[in-house]
Amino acid sequence: MTKIQYILYPFIFIGMTILSSCKQEAQQEPESIDSKIESLLSKMTLEEKIGQMNQYNGFWEVTGPTPSTGDAAKKYDDLRKGYVGSMLNVRGVKDVRAVQKIAVEETRLGIPLIIGFDVIHGYKTISPIPLAEAASWDLEAIKTSAQMAALECSAAGINWTFAPMVDISRDARWGRVMEGAGEDPFLGSLIAKARVNGFQGDDLSKPNTVAACAKHFAGYGFVEGGRDYNTVDVGTSTLNNIIFPPFKAALDADVKTFMNAFNVLNGIPATGNVYLQREVLKGKWDFKGFMVSDWGSIEEMQNHGYAKDLEHAAELAAIAGCDMDMESDAYVTKLAGLVKSGKVSEALIDDAVSRILKVKYELGLFDDPYRYCDEEREKTVTGSQEIQDAVLDMAKKSIVLLKNENELLPLKKKGQTIAVIGALADDKTSPLGNWRIAADNGTAVSFLEGMKAYPDNTLNYVKGADVVVGNTEFTKEIEINTTDKSGFPEAIKTAKNADVVVMVLGEQAFESGEARSRSELGLPGVQQDLLEAVYAVNKNIVLVLHNGRPVAIPWAAEHIPAIVEAWQLGTQSGNAIAQVLYGDYNPSGKLPVTFPRRVGQVPLFYNYKNTGRPKPKNPGDVFWSHYIDVENTPLYPFGYGLSYTTFSYSNLKVSKTGETTFEVSVDIENTGERDGKETAQLYIRDMVASVTRPVKELKGFEQVPLKSGEIKTITLTLTDKELGFYDNQGNFLVEPGDFKVFVGGSSNTSLETMVSL
Ligand code: NOJ
Repeated sequence: MTKIQYILYPFIFIGMTILSSCKQEAQQEPESIDSKIESLLSKMTLEEKIGQMNQYNGFWEVTGPTPSTGDAAKKYDDLRKGYVGSMLNVRGVKDVRAVQKIAVEETRLGIPLIIGFDVIHGYKTISPIPLAEAASWDLEAIKTSAQMAALECSAAGINWTFAPMVDISRDARWGRVMEGAGEDPFLGSLIAKARVNGFQGDDLSKPNTVAACAKHFAGYGFVEGGRDYNTVDVGTSTLNNIIFPPFKAALDADVKTFMNAFNVLNGIPATGNVYLQREVLKGKWDFKGFMVSDWGSIEEMQNHGYAKDLEHAAELAAIAGCDMDMESDAYVTKLAGLVKSGKVSEALIDDAVSRILKVKYELGLFDDPYRYCDEEREKTVTGSQEIQDAVLDMAKKSIVLLKNENELLPLKKKGQTIAVIGALADDKTSPLGNWRIAADNGTAVSFLEGMKAYPDNTLNYVKGADVVVGNTEFTKEIEINTTDKSGFPEAIKTAKNADVVVMVLGEQAFESGEARSRSELGLPGVQQDLLEAVYAVNKNIVLVLHNGRPVAIPWAAEHIPAIVEAWQLGTQSGNAIAQVLYGDYNPSGKLPVTFPRRVGQVPLFYNYKNTGRPKPKNPGDVFWSHYIDVENTPLYPFGYGLSYTTFSYSNLKVSKTGETTFEVSVDIENTGERDGKETAQLYIRDMVASVTRPVKELKGFEQVPLKSGEIKTITLTLTDKELGFYDNQGNFLVEPGDFKVFVGGSSNTSLETMVSL
């Protein structure tokens, strides 16, 4: 042994012992994700770290304007350097494999990409729009629908969906009402949880689950005037009690990512909002996943007048807690300079990158970056029977029967001449709804096709009038047919000779969704005139509505005997509607949003505050909170929906079971001739509180299948969670006092009683 060897020996020995014991430990306990992240982070250059925070669109532009800098060549180049952490809108195993291969095999550290896509209501096989699914109030079915979407998109290489959108909205003019769960925070929270669980499953590393994204944090559903991308000003009470709860529910369901929003919230853009992202989400709520910006929302802070240039925007967003930049080209071009000049601390970058890497580890991308890239699986899973069955089931459950006089529905299965009128009846694309970027046009079962499955009636189809003029595309403005009535005479003639007329009217898919706000809520174009013209010759009309938002149809509600809300129901649309019209499925949907009488009532929602001047007892009083030209009440209230049978409620009992808990029981009877399913709803009103409370708040529901003549007693519970509320400082309070408890088949409840806490 040389002298130097001698001196070094103890250290070598100790070193070897430590190494071998570490190795043993490593064999016993797998290295934790946190230590893997730490070790990877220590190898990354600043530019590589920032690269993880950069998300690029695929090399075609489908979901937003082209970014003002950058081009496909630069994107490829950045990808090769390891300056891209995620891509969106790359889809299909072939394409995903191609970009993933560059990230994994050509970059210095080989960090895999996370592949994002807007799988909002299905991928290739399309399920009902989220608003329609919410109308089912069926949390299991909603979860299954998300599960099926995850199954299909993950087989096409995708491992991250930008869903669920959990924005509460009270304004039917906003086009994105279609993408959420409606107006209520209680129902919205349960649906948020169901969707997150459906997408993410119980093991994110399985190749058939994907990371979910709760969006848009926060306030986006409250854009002024319902005009998309507009400013939002809301008070703390609305923020804490209405807007936040579904986000918190998604977080509690372990959602892996959040997306911020295009809007300004009380003067500060959501994307650069420290309060929302650092204080609430990552602070108070302790969110451990990562926050992605919305498309270009970092650079848009310049237009908001909040950032003076792109560099300033990058600084504000990074400091506020936005971890990933979707398509602003702000982080990849500006953040390194900001760190070097000391304006953004490297610790913030490390935090953001760690969050992103964590989700990639959890997805199993480091174990096998190609785990979502199996061509065989893609072939067998896409459009499989299992997925078709689930979307059909979901579609049937989403349909809401709004009116049914003279038992016009269900239709007789034999010997009837049925006139089918309306361009949407023969449309194989519009039922796919707005967010259908991976689906092929013409792949929905049209209404007419669905009706043809019942061959013993005679179907006579006439278009009557177009809803839109020309072809429609996701990225193009839509043109409504407001003049062409040339098809009316034939429609009238066909209707005259029919036993029943089914009119399929409403919105074409691209009349709702992003950037599709409307200032009117009636039937678009000449469809109202068509309806009235047909009614003049045959009053036996079933009106089937297609729409992505509440519509205001007071004339139809008064005159048309049967109205079916069929939203945009996806690939199996026609089959679902036909089965409901013919009574093979008894409709059970309940509206998750209020339908106004007129657009001027909007925002109209069931959980409003009483005001100091509610409806007076004396009919002649003038000075109360109302309009002089329309009632305050809605056309159809939140929670409303009929069945082919009828239900009655009786025997409401509330008993106090603890200091802040009540048990509420009620009898429900199926008083009609058919079996059916009722969604029994429980509401409360906190009569006096330190912050005023709404006149009604949904706090529980149960779906009750009942055979004809059957009676069941259901029991629901109220705990402090349901009885409390957030004050203006964001504290959760449960205050003693009187509570009204209501139960019924809609927010227009039939039974009520008073209890005290
Ligand atoms: C903009 C939308 O607001 C957002 O919801 C969506 O996920 C992104 N575009 C990506 O397409």
